[in-house]
Amino acid sequence: FRRNLITSNSTQMAIKNVVVIGGGLMGSGIAQVAAQNGQNVTIVDLDQKVLDKAKNSINISLQRIAKKLFKDDSVKAEKFLSDSMAHVTLSTNPEQAVNQSDLVVEAIVEKLNIKQKLFQTLDAVAPTHTVFASNTSSLPIGEIAQSTNRKDRFVGLHFFNPVPVMKLLEVIRIPETSDDTYNLVMEWGKSIGKQTVTCKDTPGFIVNRLLVPYMMEAVRLLERGDATARDIDTAMKLGAGYPMGPFELLDYVGLDTSKFIIEGWAEKFPENPLFKPVPTLNRLVEEGKLGMKTGEGFYKYQKK
Ligand code: NAI
Repeated sequence: FRRNLITSNSTQMAIKNVVVIGGGLMGSGIAQVAAQNGQNVTIVDLDQKVLDKAKNSINISLQRIAKKLFKDDSVKAEKFLSDSMAHVTLSTNPEQAVNQSDLVVEAIVEKLNIKQKLFQTLDAVAPTHTVFASNTSSLPIGEIAQSTNRKDRFVGLHFFNPVPVMKLLEVIRIPETSDDTYNLVMEWGKSIGKQTVTCKDTPGFIVNRLLVPYMMEAVRLLERGDATARDIDTAMKLGAGYPMGPFELLDYVGLDTSKFIIEGWAEKFPENPLFKPVPTLNRLVEEGKLGMKTGEGFYKYQKK
């Protein structure tokens, strides 16, 4: 009976209109997966140029998917592309965009006060039923939600880059998140083709809590001169079955991003040895070697 009750409740309130705030790397990916699964999506950014770029990159990515999905049927492929693109709207006005929203997913700059300010503004104008979510990687969801009067309708929805490819969605509950809200976003996650996992509001949630200290330990191993970066990567790929080694992964994620995350945690949890600063990482960032995006990190890359 309980199960039926939950199902009927959630179905009643299924999410149709999604607003994604921030049209950068993550926001455009989140918007894409929602649009390609038939939801109406509005992407909001401060910058119209970012929005145009987001729409263009979604179009390119969807073309690739359409070709794969409908190999022998160009009519169906074209329809998939145009239907999906028709679901995407762009806006530079967040307050107006959330008017008709069921779910707001925030993927803006990783700064607590900026996220809080955004949600405070939106809380005053969004419909009562609208669920708010943050895609933050390293900030406590509870602290972001603090700026709103809808903590029961607040969650973390942590996606992975590249969003259209990575299957996982971490759903973060704060103590105030209601069962209805939780069930609704779990269902939404499935509806956009993601496998959901649930985690409490703890630093790094599941994936980054394990992955970031692991990558930092790899750098410490290198710093001690125990092994080369290349050999550590080879070891983890061939010995542990990881698809990428820790240095390849650091370069892919961006050394600045990793440094930012570990520093935030070190400040909050100074006693935890796993979160201690890593000098090599700091040096590379200072030298502007941020990984693949700058052409050099632990490895060198051909610039595109
Ligand atoms: P990004 O820098 O590519 O995009 C952020 C966008 O937000 C920019 O286009 C910027 O113009 C816009 N923006 C900034 N302040 C705004 C505001 N007040 N209103 C509207 N738009 C605003 O950043 P990225 O990588 O997409 O990250 C966004 C969020 O997602 C961050 O919280 C990050 O921690 C999180 N995240 C990032 C992952 C990654 O691999 N890059 C993975 C998972 C989460």
